[in-house]
Amino acid sequence: MKVPKCGNLLFIGFMGVGKSTLAKELAKELKTVCLDTDKIIENMENKKIKNIFSTKGEEYFRELEQKVAIWLEKNVKNSIISTGGGFIAVGNLKKIGKIIYLKSSFDGIMKRLENHPKSKEKLAKRPLLQDRKRAKELFKRRSDTYKKLADITINVEKYKNKREMIKELMKLFDTNVSSR
Ligand code: S3P
Repeated sequence: MKVPKCGNLLFIGFMGVGKSTLAKELAKELKTVCLDTDKIIENMENKKIKNIFSTKGEEYFRELEQKVAIWLEKNVKNSIISTGGGFIAVGNLKKIGKIIYLKSSFDGIMKRLENHPKSKEKLAKRPLLQDRKRAKELFKRRSDTYKKLADITINVEKYKNKREMIKELMKLFDTNVSSR
């Protein structure tokens, strides 16, 4: 398998679609570093995302995302980066790296979360998933932006498991990324 000769690879997509899991798997495959924007923010604040939302509010969280985006653009190379679902609003996203959009239907995402062994935890840690109706509206509002920003789109519902998605990504890199 050819390792893509490029800068960073960024996973975008709605909450719970599996960005972190796949990013970690891909980093292992490419023998490189995996970063997660939510984890960076939690470390910056020494607080869980849920607590940042409840004590400082969403707007403050979005400012932190923008700070992280600038830091990533300036300081990070050849890494796999998993982003929070709303990270697409940062102004310099395209300058950080090539973008892989993990796409799924809203129902597919909810099913994936509900079937997870740590389902309760997975749902509870995401403030914007607490109200299902509002989450679905957010999903609809964001879908087009994800699509427009993507260099590569992976429809996660078409694959049996992570392994197959990684295989597909490695194939796509040869044509989409390594030539850039
Ligand atoms: C958010 C997604 C979350 C996290 C925060 C806000 C969003 O990350 O950044 O709760 O706005 O979609 P995940 O996409 O990893 O759940």
